[in-house]
Amino acid sequence: MENETIYILAIESSCDDTSAAVLCNKKKLSNVVATQQIHEEYGGVVPELASRAHQQNIVPVVHQALSKANIDKKQLSAIAFTRGPGLMGSLLVGTSFAKSLAMGLSIPLIEVNHMQAHILAHFIEEESMTKPGFPFLALTISGGHTQIVLVKDYFDMEILGETLDDAVGEAFDKSAKILGLPYPGGPLVDKHAQLGNPKAFPFTKPKVDGLNFSFSGLKTGILYFVQRETKKNPEFISENLNDICASIQHSIIQILMDKLKKAVKQTGVKQIAIAGGVSANSGIRKALKESEELYGWTTYIPKFEYCTDNAAMIGIVGYLKFKEAHFSEQNISAKARYTIGS
Ligand code: KG4
Ligand code: ZN
Repeated sequence: MENETIYILAIESSCDDTSAAVLCNKKKLSNVVATQQIHEEYGGVVPELASRAHQQNIVPVVHQALSKANIDKKQLSAIAFTRGPGLMGSLLVGTSFAKSLAMGLSIPLIEVNHMQAHILAHFIEEESMTKPGFPFLALTISGGHTQIVLVKDYFDMEILGETLDDAVGEAFDKSAKILGLPYPGGPLVDKHAQLGNPKAFPFTKPKVDGLNFSFSGLKTGILYFVQRETKKNPEFISENLNDICASIQHSIIQILMDKLKKAVKQTGVKQIAIAGGVSANSGIRKALKESEELYGWTTYIPKFEYCTDNAAMIGIVGYLKFKEAHFSEQNISAKARYTIGS
């Protein structure tokens, strides 16, 4: 059994990316992502449209993942899929597809928690990635979630803190919207921030106890600030875009780093791994790298491909569960609210 070659087909459809991947044990053979552009014109993800787009994308995306991996579906050992958390209409597409295919091929079905997968993406075997050892702290930052998780083992995780309102990605996207930038604005804020002064405009930091986060106050603060300044100077945004973006990004990073420092103090764990789409942010990457020298932390940043929503991260969880014969029944259903450990 130990040297057995396991091929997992993984499917991810929790939000607005339809993705399929094939893994051979811990190695990725293919990881295809179809990002839905339709939401751009609405300034955010429209659940009904996301579900329809998944319906259109799922078959071609799975075909592409198999053909890129050069694997025939008859070679597959199991099908892994995202059960939740996410948008129900989106999850149903991937769940139904995975169930049907597993039944058709008479192979095991493996349900995967999307948030656990973001964290376990660190264990995909890649030359450029070093794996954290247990225990480590995971900072999961995406458009839907913001969590600090104590990871004691692959499937032994404890949420130490999470956002009480907006996710950090939402904070980026909503701030970008206030500045008139298109959706999703996070990467654009990052781009402008790299050319601006992070100390130009100080924004008030939220006061939240323990390891929880809050970002809605920051967003409102930015809105009022921009409204006030544009009244005085209608060109305020265009004349100061880089500095505004740098200041917003700086505030968000300060919030994240403050909580991380608190989590390290509380747990004594100095290994920090980040996950989720916002891990792509240049500011947070820089702050984490600096923390290695400043506080003696060891930090782990996954390859960009594994930061944003992708099926390879579902595949690695599928593999780890396959090894434990942790399979799902055919009557399993999608779960829009699905916390780690539940
Ligand atoms: O993990 P992800 O792809 O999807 C969710 O599960 O939410 O994360 C998407 C989020 C969006 O809010 C996007 O604006 C943000 O990640 N994001 C960034 C950057 N790249 C993506 N935020 C700030 N800076 C970036 N470079
Ligand atoms: Zn995600």
